[in-house]
Amino acid sequence: MEIDLTTLESRHAHDLLTGSIIPRPIAWVSSMNENGDTNLAPFSFFTGVSWNPPVIAFSPVNRPDGTRKDTVINIEKIPEFVVHMVSVDLLHPMESTAKSIPYGKDEAELKDIHLVESTTIRPKRIQHAKIAFECILEKIVRISEGPEAGNLILGRVVMAHIDDDLILNDREINSKALDPLGRLSGKFYCHTRATIESEKN
Ligand SMILES: Cc1cc2nc3c(=O)[nH]c(=O)nc-3n(C[C@H](O)[C@H](O)[C@H](O)COP(=O)(O)O)c2cc1C
Repeated sequence: MEIDLTTLESRHAHDLLTGSIIPRPIAWVSSMNENGDTNLAPFSFFTGVSWNPPVIAFSPVNRPDGTRKDTVINIEKIPEFVVHMVSVDLLHPMESTAKSIPYGKDEAELKDIHLVESTTIRPKRIQHAKIAFECILEKIVRISEGPEAGNLILGRVVMAHIDDDLILNDREINSKALDPLGRLSGKFYCHTRATIESEKN
């Protein structure tokens, strides 16, 4: 079957991409508005893009009415944010922050998620995330304007908070201890508890 994406309805393109690009890690992002309220939201269009300098990227798409999501509005005003990695045990708290709430409401307070001060930036971080990256905005790449157009947010990682029991040999991350949650499509997720060791390495 061939599918022409130049004429495809955007919901169908969404299903095609999110069903094919799997599994995806989830960036659980905390940002801050000018009043100091914390906004939390998950984004699975997420990856690392450079390690010298260390830069990671995620992409909030515009809402169906073409307006920007709160995370983008916040980062445009206060160009700092924290990206947390999501472990399997954080599935439900993470999902609870994907629902729209009125702009400016402190999301963590509403969802009973415990925040602590970051070390180098203003937005707070989630205490129970096993890995948190404090980031400073590098740039926002607007893919297009209008409904569901992406805003690729690139952030330079300036500080990492990593649970001590995740660290192997002083610098490697123990993926078993991290127990990362992967995003599939629809309501499905996966874990990485069954791993494959390549004999060629
Ligand atoms: C696991 C998961 C992954 C998501 N990934 C994305 C994504 O990559 N891009 C996006 O725009 N929305 C994504 N969403 C939806 C946003 O989290 C949701 O629109 C949220 O309300 C945005 O919050 P904000 O307006 O506070 O920024 C995802 C939701 C879930 C549960």
